[in-house]
Amino acid sequence: MSTGTISFDASDVRDAADADRTLRIRGGRSLRGEVHVRGAKNTLPKNMVAALLTDQECLLHNVAGIRDVEIVGRMIRALGGTVAREGSGEIRMRADNLVPLSREDAAEFSGRSRIPVLLCGPLLSRVGEFFIPDLGGCNIGPRPIDFHLEALVQLGAAVQETSDGVRLTANRLHGAKIRLPYPSVGATEQVLLSAVLAEGITELSNAAIEPEIIDLIAVLQKMGATISVETDRVITINGVERMHGFEHSALPDRLETASWACAALATDGRIFVAGAHQLDMMTFLNAFRRVGGEFRVSDDGIEFWRRVGSLRSVALETDVHPGFMTDWQQPFVVALTQAMGVSIVHETVYEDRFGYTSALNDMGAQIQLYRECLGGRKCRFGRRNHLHSAVVVGPTPLRGTEIHIPDLRAGFSYVIAALVADGLSTITNVGLIRRGYEHFEDKLLALGAELDNAPVTLAVP
Ligand code: EPU
Repeated sequence: MSTGTISFDASDVRDAADADRTLRIRGGRSLRGEVHVRGAKNTLPKNMVAALLTDQECLLHNVAGIRDVEIVGRMIRALGGTVAREGSGEIRMRADNLVPLSREDAAEFSGRSRIPVLLCGPLLSRVGEFFIPDLGGCNIGPRPIDFHLEALVQLGAAVQETSDGVRLTANRLHGAKIRLPYPSVGATEQVLLSAVLAEGITELSNAAIEPEIIDLIAVLQKMGATISVETDRVITINGVERMHGFEHSALPDRLETASWACAALATDGRIFVAGAHQLDMMTFLNAFRRVGGEFRVSDDGIEFWRRVGSLRSVALETDVHPGFMTDWQQPFVVALTQAMGVSIVHETVYEDRFGYTSALNDMGAQIQLYRECLGGRKCRFGRRNHLHSAVVVGPTPLRGTEIHIPDLRAGFSYVIAALVADGLSTITNVGLIRRGYEHFEDKLLALGAELDNAPVTLAVP
C-alpha cells in the first residue's frame, strides 16, 4: 500500500487533470481488509497555519497526502515561509521571514479552500495586514464568514470588504470578550489563532469544542500559549508576546474512519481501520451499533463489520461536538438505504447538505427531503424553507449509473453507493475526493473493490 506523498509545488496541471478524473466501479463486492488512516483533513491545515505564528521551526508528523495539505503548504511558501517534506508523513515548516500575501497569490488561492480565512490572526499579528481571497471549500450551502469578521473586529482588526475579497489591517490585536452566535469550528479556530498573540485576555463563549479544536489548542500550548477550556463552551486565551516552534503528531481523521466504517456496513464487509481513535468517535460508534454494525477497538485501530442479519433503521440528527458530525451523515445515509424500515436524519449544522441524495434516488434509493425539523428538537433551519430533514426508506437495491460529485463527503458516499450497486457506476469529478481522502483508490483496490479503469498513481514524487 502506498504510504502517501505530498508535493508543495504549484501543480495547476494536476489540479485540472484531477478535477476531470473519472472512476468506474463495478459494485456487488464486500470490502474486506485493512486501510491506514493518518492525520485529519480538518486538523492538519490548521496545525500548519499555527506554524505561521512563530519564526521558529515546526515539525508535524502523521501528515496525510491530501490536497488541502498541499494547498496550505503552497500558501506558506507564498507568504515567504519554507515547507519541506521529510520521509513519509512528516513536514518541517519555518516562517521566519513572513511577508503579506500578494494580490496575485491571493487570486491563485481564491476558490480552492476555506483555510485562507484562518491566516488572519498570524498575519495580522506578525505583518499587520491580510487579504482574504474569495473562499472555496465544499459546495454545501452559503458558508458565510460573518462570525470570523465580527470576532476579528472585536479583537481590534479593521475590516474592508472589496469586490474580490476582504482586506484586514491591525496594529496589535487586543483581547476581547466574544460570544459566537453558533459554536462554529472555523470561527473558534479564528479566535484561537488571533488571540494567542493579542495583548491581554480573550474570553470566547459558545465556542466549538470538536476534537480537531482541542488538537489545535494542544499545538498552541506547545508553542507557549495558555488556553483553558471550560465545561460550558467557554475558552480563555492569555495572549503572549512570542510563540515558539512545535513538534506534533496530528489527530487521526475520524471522518475518513467513519467513511470506511460505513463502506464495511453498506457492502456487508469487514474493514480494519489502522490508526483510528475510539475517543473521538464515540457518538459515531453508538449510531453504528444501533443500525446493526459491530466494531472491535484495539490499540492500533478499529475493526468494523455488519452484525449477522439485516441493518435496522434509526433516527438521528447531526450536531456540533459531542453530537453526530455533519460529515458522518453522507456515508451513513448510504448505509441507511440498506437498512430495514424508515430512518430519519435531521441535519442541523448546514442548511443545504442533502443535495447529493437525488443521485442516490436515481440509483434506486428512496430518500425524501423535508423542510420541517424531523428530529427530536427544533433547529435554526426550521420553517426557513431549507430541505434539511431526510426520510430514508429501505432496504432498496441500488443500480449502477453515472454520477457527478458535487462535494467531498458526498463524493465518498457515491463511491460507497457504487460499491453496493448492481452493475457499473461511472463517477466523475473524482479529484474532489483527494481533498480529504489519501490514496483512496489504492485503498479501495486493497479492500477488493472492482475498479474498471486502472487507478492512476495520484502521488507526485
Ligand atoms: N457559520 C456562519 N458564519 C460563520 C461561520 C459559520 O453562519 O462565520 C455557520 C455555517 O454556515 C454552518 C455552521 O455555522 O452552518 C457551522 O460552520 P463551521 O464554521 O463550524 O464550519 P467550518 O469551520 O467552515 C469545518 C469543517 C467542515 C465541517 C464543519 C462542521 C474544516 C476545513 N471544515 O467547517 O468540514 O463540516 O467544520 O464540523 O475544518 C468536510 O470536511 O467535508 C467539511 C465540510
